[in-house]
Amino acid sequence: MSLFSSSKLGSGTRTGGGATAAPAGVTGGLASGITSGRLPTRQLGLRKTAKITDEEFEKLADFIYNKTGISISIKRKYLLENRLGARLSELGLKTFKEYYDYLQLDKNRAAEMEVICEKVTTNETSFYRDARQLGIFQNEMLKETLAKQEALGRKELFIWSAGCSSGEEPYTLAIMLHEALGMSIIGWNIRITANDLSPAMLRLARAGVYTDYALRTTPKGIIAKYFDKVDAGYQVKPRVQKLVQFGPVNLSDPASTRRVPRSHIVFCRNVIIYFDDAMKKKAITAFYDNLLPGGHLFLGHSESIHKLSTAFRPVPKPGAICYKKEE
Ligand SMILES: C[S@@+](CC[C@H](N)C(=O)[O-])C[C@H]1O[C@@H](n2cnc3c(N)ncnc32)[C@H](O)[C@@H]1O
Repeated sequence: MSLFSSSKLGSGTRTGGGATAAPAGVTGGLASGITSGRLPTRQLGLRKTAKITDEEFEKLADFIYNKTGISISIKRKYLLENRLGARLSELGLKTFKEYYDYLQLDKNRAAEMEVICEKVTTNETSFYRDARQLGIFQNEMLKETLAKQEALGRKELFIWSAGCSSGEEPYTLAIMLHEALGMSIIGWNIRITANDLSPAMLRLARAGVYTDYALRTTPKGIIAKYFDKVDAGYQVKPRVQKLVQFGPVNLSDPASTRRVPRSHIVFCRNVIIYFDDAMKKKAITAFYDNLLPGGHLFLGHSESIHKLSTAFRPVPKPGAICYKKEE
């Protein structure tokens, strides 16, 4: 999966809140129509966007890496150009050098960071994503942790969902907790801390309204039980929402990750795939420090900490892997 594989390039998977899931090719279709020469740019009333030089690319890529930990290779230069080119036009800037200076010096530079986050992150997600891994979590690690906590007389469970995008992952975990505990959930202190870099994604997550597309792999019975039908789609019920607390956390900033309350379980799926090894190590250290002894870390199916950290014990399962911090 590449850095730029999300709906922003037309895969049509932006699924949260008011956003519409566009069919494949629609988002990117305008640009491809222009480049394939079907209609001249002037006829469409569109301005040509600036070209990015290698030097401008290096500076911008370094800036993005330092702020977000996201690593963009020179091979993806054209994608940065595509995604940010229109932004330059909106700001009345002619070159990427001017845009870089804007990011350093303009009075609106803090707000522009939000735009950059939007443009460079891949936010693809869905409810019940990677059902096999979630099944193992629900039937084994979750059950085990709840039983252990109960035996200790501590009816509390803390989970961190890092890089939660528009909220589908932490809400899925909250639903699984309802399923595991049933009515007895009222006697438990449960907190799912859900974070993302992108303020726009966090706004969608807090709203908790989703289209059919976001729920495409969710069992029908679960939708009926935990969602209310609303005009814009399906809204997560308050009893699910109240288990989840959303807030901004930047995994590339240790001061930010240290503020996350300690957890029994950490989910960080499909996030570190966009980081280089140095940044991956930083994130894994943050998860290790955050986890309570005996806690579990769940990464995406194509992500591994092999060669990056020996701190965790791998727990291989058929079709999935998770990592355990020693007791
Ligand atoms: C592909 S989504 C994964 C969503 C969810 N975890 C899942 O697997 O369905 C990746 C998310 O990571 C977030 N992200 C990227 N870099 C981050 C960073 N440095 N700190 C926090 N979140 C980050 C992005 O904003 C994006 O919403």
